[in-house]
Amino acid sequence: MEIERKWLQTFVLAFTFCTLQLATICNGVRNDSPTLDSEASYAAGHHESCHGTQYDGSSLETVASCGAADHESDFHAKLCCFPAIFSFGSSVADTGTSVLVRVDAPPNNFPYGRTFPGYSSGRWSDGRLLIDFWAEILGLPYLDPFVKSGTSRFNHGANFACGGGTATDKYTNIAPSFFSLSLQLYQFKKFKSQVLETHRVQELVPGSGHMKDCGSTLPPVSVFLDALYIVAAGANDIWYPVLQGTPINDMRVAIPEISASIMRTVEALHEEGARNILVEDVYPAGCMLVAIKDGNYTRYGDLGTLDSDGCVKLLDHLIQLHNAILKEEIAAFARKHSDDLSIALVDTYSIRRDLMTNPAKYGFKYGMDTCCGSDGMPGRYKSDEKCGKSPRAQPCTDPKEYVVWDGLHYTEAANKATMKAILSGAHFHPEFTLRWNQS
Ligand SMILES: *[C@@H]1O[C@H](CO)[C@@H](O)[C@H](O)[C@H]1NC(C)=O
Repeated sequence: MEIERKWLQTFVLAFTFCTLQLATICNGVRNDSPTLDSEASYAAGHHESCHGTQYDGSSLETVASCGAADHESDFHAKLCCFPAIFSFGSSVADTGTSVLVRVDAPPNNFPYGRTFPGYSSGRWSDGRLLIDFWAEILGLPYLDPFVKSGTSRFNHGANFACGGGTATDKYTNIAPSFFSLSLQLYQFKKFKSQVLETHRVQELVPGSGHMKDCGSTLPPVSVFLDALYIVAAGANDIWYPVLQGTPINDMRVAIPEISASIMRTVEALHEEGARNILVEDVYPAGCMLVAIKDGNYTRYGDLGTLDSDGCVKLLDHLIQLHNAILKEEIAAFARKHSDDLSIALVDTYSIRRDLMTNPAKYGFKYGMDTCCGSDGMPGRYKSDEKCGKSPRAQPCTDPKEYVVWDGLHYTEAANKATMKAILSGAHFHPEFTLRWNQS
């Protein structure tokens, strides 16, 4: 009886995470796609040597095959050693959470997803996000949102990020989503305990080796130690209270609470076993047309005006304040845990600010103008014709000419350019060593 109940439990859990689709992809990788297969076994061998972790060889290979990317990558070199990614944050990293929890989220609608995957996939862009490019350079499939449990594969990680999500719990009432970092962390812990429980129960069932093959959408227990953890939150904790007209002194006082929240998340992840964590800072939201045109900054005096690049001084001031504090705190945390943790801030701010203010340098035509939400014409942004909301908000002809997609988020092309800049290695604070496959 005891065994039967455990078996049923295993089945139910496995079912929750399993899809037929997965089996097809795995079989495809193993039998039909020699390129991916060889890449996967290479990554497997390399993985072992990089971490020196003891693995049962068969399950390692299986995991690598199951986790191998089922898509083409624009990045030819592959980073080694990370079998999975766990992602936390807001719309910059959301691969489909917000559209499952909010029917009114713009990425429910075309033209979001126009470039990739060709339909609205829940990403706040015309295509891939930075988190998708992280998956690409690790040779992993794109991350499924954790809330999409029924049809997702989690053997290469999971995405807890949600558009509108905040770093703190302070603004969940005014931000468009209640998916703060603490809620996302709660979901991660739940996911982790489900995985551990499933593996534990499996041990009790004689001959239940199927959890180790490609039929399983669950990662091995070791994944929580070996994965790359990426946290990208904080912009909504600044933008929404400012949009509401929160006094400047209240804003300044609240800024350290944002990094404190992010650091609590980082600390918890470290306690849960994370050994590699990247924290992306807040992007230059003050240079976004939605912030520039839709905000009412009259009460902020000179801070409410625009700087020489045309960005809202107030937002930029608060974002830079936050990013500087976060950078310090991460450096301190890195020093404190240097024995068992690699952690760095990824300075996306300076890359993205440069993209927006010097677009030609990167091959873009428009830096701050928006592709969608401006009649498809530069200089015609309209507050009441938001991308994905108004049928009149037509996208531009070629999103690759634009850094900004919808007046508040980046185009796929801009995200790709950002990833390229990150890979130069100069934007990690403190240094974060990227180890490459030398294939
Ligand atoms: C902007 O805010 C001020 C108060 O801070 C208010 O008096 C004014 O009417 C607002 N303007 C608009 C266009 O909403």
